[in-house]
Amino acid sequence: MSPEFITIQAPALTRFADSILRGAGVPARTARLVADTLVAANLRGVDSHGVQLLIWYCEQIAARNVDVLRAGHIASENGACMLYDGDNGIGQLISDTCCDHAIRLAKDHGIGMVVARNSTHFGAAAWWAQKLAREGFIGMVMCNATALVAPWQGRDKMLGTNPICMAVPGPRTFLLDMATTTVALNRVFKAVLSGEKSIPAGWAMDAEGNPTTDPQTALAGLPMPLGGYKGSGLAVMVEILCAVLSGGAMLTNVGGIRVKDIPMSASQMFLAIDAARFMPLDEFSRRMQFVRETVKSSRPASGYDEVLIAGDPEWRSEEARLRDGIPVSQGIWKELTALAGRLKVAVPVVANG
Ligand SMILES: NC(=O)c1ccc[n+]([C@@H]2O[C@H](COP(=O)([O-])OP(=O)(O)OC[C@H]3O[C@@H](n4cnc5c(N)ncnc54)[C@H](O)[C@@H]3O)[C@@H](O)[C@H]2O)c1
Repeated sequence: MSPEFITIQAPALTRFADSILRGAGVPARTARLVADTLVAANLRGVDSHGVQLLIWYCEQIAARNVDVLRAGHIASENGACMLYDGDNGIGQLISDTCCDHAIRLAKDHGIGMVVARNSTHFGAAAWWAQKLAREGFIGMVMCNATALVAPWQGRDKMLGTNPICMAVPGPRTFLLDMATTTVALNRVFKAVLSGEKSIPAGWAMDAEGNPTTDPQTALAGLPMPLGGYKGSGLAVMVEILCAVLSGGAMLTNVGGIRVKDIPMSASQMFLAIDAARFMPLDEFSRRMQFVRETVKSSRPASGYDEVLIAGDPEWRSEEARLRDGIPVSQGIWKELTALAGRLKVAVPVVANG
């Protein structure tokens, strides 16, 4: 492992994240839930939504933009549809509760949809869609986020990186979890914190809308909508299903993990679909396997030696990192150990630390 990274096993990193959160005043059960979700993202190789988020989560808690003691409440329930108000509690606790309600509703109605307003950051969407899938449902999860993205052909920040995620029940065949920008903005933050010299072309533009590969310019500029105007369209779709429908903060009224003066007030959507209402679950799984194998059987294009399907890169990372440990860049580790110092939390011993 390169000395640019420390390496730590998942259980030790989870304990460290849990201690930091408890040190910041988060109740024990919620701290453990948040720690589990963050380290799961690191295991999946989605470091943008791993433990580096603790830096900003703790700032939000200190700024009282997140109320660590609130869990939210049901605003209304009507058939398979529920509206939840998160009361600006911890996003992961709100999402966990909303998923439980979506599962309950889908068991009764074949489909369950919960939209939450006044929520806060929930990390990577995959954790929540997978929670729904583990219970036997097709899980779809979306959320709106800080307005950092200009609509296609514009240069004013109006949309979030609004992710879309879908997980399916049964064996691992497909798990799509993607921002509606080329990549999640936290990947640019990770590049900056890790001291990377450049980011791939197509990730971002400068403030005027010119393409850039410089991480700092990208951070001060604009994330690139996924596939141009199609990404802008998908981001608006997410905004509608999450924020318009929930009555929550929309577009530029959404705060964020790096916004100090207002609560985040994010909106999230959790949809559970009971595939078994359409066909037996094992038939669904067989058909999913067929889709997976057919897609992956395409001859690789020039420059590639295989075709992947959504979920493959993260499942591979998970296997490797469970075995070899999680690499955390020295830059991020330094921030986390400084945070631990401020909160009087012990720092674990790590390789290359
Ligand atoms: N909470 C928030 O406000 C928020 C906002 C934006 C994004 N996010 C999270 O950011 C994370 C990262 O998003 P991202 O868009 O940068 O992810 P990404 O670009 O790394 O991956 C997106 C999807 O593409 C798939 N994929 C990757 N390479 C592939 C290949 N070669 N062939 C086929 N499929 C492939 C992945 O499996 C994944 O499902 C997600 O977990 C998302 O939920 C969260």
